[in-house]
Amino acid sequence: MLIYLNNKIVSASDARVSVFDHGFLYGDGIYETMRVYDGVVFMLDEHIKRLHRSASLIELKIPQKPKEIKSAIHKTLEANSLKNAYVRLTISRGYGPIGLDPALCAKPTFVIMANKFMDYPVSFYKKGVKLIISSVRRNLKEAINPQIKSLTFLNNILAKIEAKKKKAYEALMLNSEGYLTEGTICNVFFVLNKKNKQVLCTPSVDCGILDGITRSIVLDLALKNKIKIKEGKFKKETVYNASEVFITNTTMEVMPVCEIDGNKYQIGDITKLLHSAYKNNVQAYISKQT
Ligand code: PDD
Repeated sequence: MLIYLNNKIVSASDARVSVFDHGFLYGDGIYETMRVYDGVVFMLDEHIKRLHRSASLIELKIPQKPKEIKSAIHKTLEANSLKNAYVRLTISRGYGPIGLDPALCAKPTFVIMANKFMDYPVSFYKKGVKLIISSVRRNLKEAINPQIKSLTFLNNILAKIEAKKKKAYEALMLNSEGYLTEGTICNVFFVLNKKNKQVLCTPSVDCGILDGITRSIVLDLALKNKIKIKEGKFKKETVYNASEVFITNTTMEVMPVCEIDGNKYQIGDITKLLHSAYKNNVQAYISKQT
């Protein structure tokens, strides 16, 4: 595996970062995860835009221009001969003496890792995955805004530890007011049946979530398919009473959920429709770029 590290392609064993790197010392940095289909980096512009939003929210100046970042991603994919891949781009504050002041670091550390995309088990999509609602609350948006895709991931890791202990695949977190937010690495959607009408619901961004790129595609596809949508504040009891639940992110796409805290769900029509509409949307994107 070859890694892009500060303008150079190096072997994995040579890809080393200093113990004085503030990403290591303080979790001071940001990242993006992208998926590559047939050599095409899906939604590349949107990921680069979000990277810049994260950078601006932590007052980190990215030295590379968007064009240079794109070219570095493609170089990394070529160096590793990858066509269907997972790409992680990490930018930390960089190397500097101990101390919180970002001015201690002269330049950010820039890393791109790319690896063959390993498909999720087929059963995850056929049967759905099991979730819990974690006792760990999502970071307050006034503390560490979840809109920053930051290296400071302990909030999510604590929820993941709880999920693993309860033999669940993923954990959903509530915010400090008890409203549903998101999973540790994904957004969540669910279907409510109101007066015989189905409504696709998802926590609104102001609940304190990362506005996932997959989430925004799913909302668009729902709109195009005339599915009624509600972005809002939801208590956990509301999701317990849903008829369908699914989670989304760049690598999972649309992944059905079969159980939350013992409440069971079917893989219903809306989940199936959006799962295949998402796949078609990816294909359309690839055809446009090639
Ligand atoms: N995670 N919420 C959180 C907390 C996330 O970490 C992610 C993405 C999402 C979904 O965002 P998107 O649809 O843009 O992938 C929501 C990535 C996959 C990761 O951590 O690697």
